[in-house]
Amino acid sequence: ENVKWIVVKNPEEGAKEVFNLISEELQHNRLHVLGLATGSTMIPIYNEWTNSSLDFSNITAFNLDEYVGIDADNPNSYAYFMNQHLFSKKPFKETYIPNGMAEDLDKECKEYEDQLNSHPLDIQLLGVGENGHIAFNEPGTSFDSVTHVATLTDSTLGVNSQYFENDDKIPNIALTMGISSIIKSKKLIMVAFGEKKRAAMEKLKAGEVTAEWPITKLLHHEDVIVITDLQLD
Ligand code: GLP
Repeated sequence: ENVKWIVVKNPEEGAKEVFNLISEELQHNRLHVLGLATGSTMIPIYNEWTNSSLDFSNITAFNLDEYVGIDADNPNSYAYFMNQHLFSKKPFKETYIPNGMAEDLDKECKEYEDQLNSHPLDIQLLGVGENGHIAFNEPGTSFDSVTHVATLTDSTLGVNSQYFENDDKIPNIALTMGISSIIKSKKLIMVAFGEKKRAAMEKLKAGEVTAEWPITKLLHHEDVIVITDLQLD
């Protein structure tokens, strides 16, 4: 069994579990490049970090994804989210996030993948979409995908648009690390809180790898930790 399940009572307890895992890797000098995620799941996790003495000043961070056409000063961008919840409070050595404002998006994706290849991920932190997407790799995305321009599904647009402020329309395209870019990380920490994630967690638990549920590709990785507040049988 390559997936280690940690069942917690609530998101705060889940955030403490993530904190312990990250501190241990830092202490053993096994963490140099850290993959980060956005979304409401990550907020208690980043709060735990910013209220601690964790030192990320020697760490390079890579984010999973970014909307196309939403700039870093716009509160709806993932760059803004990261600054607000983490980077403005904890210094990192360097931080990478795909540039959704790039003129040539394919070139931006290629350069991002090149940067990832020269800074192999030690840990990738992941959330999951209700439809089983990881980053913005929607159902049906090739397991061989690298960083690419992705079209968002109606389901994801519906779920994510509730977070959009200032009457901005949610873009239906985004830049995202691919499934193979994510899977290359030495260790994966996947976090899922709440009933809306039950279907995705049940698919993962069921043990069958299918492109219709991108999350199930984690079953092919040798070091995955899942932290959830869902009781699954
Ligand atoms: C977005 C992100 C995903 C994230 C998902 C879940 O679609 N691209 O990387 O996992 O949202 O978000 P939340 O944590 O808000 O449920």
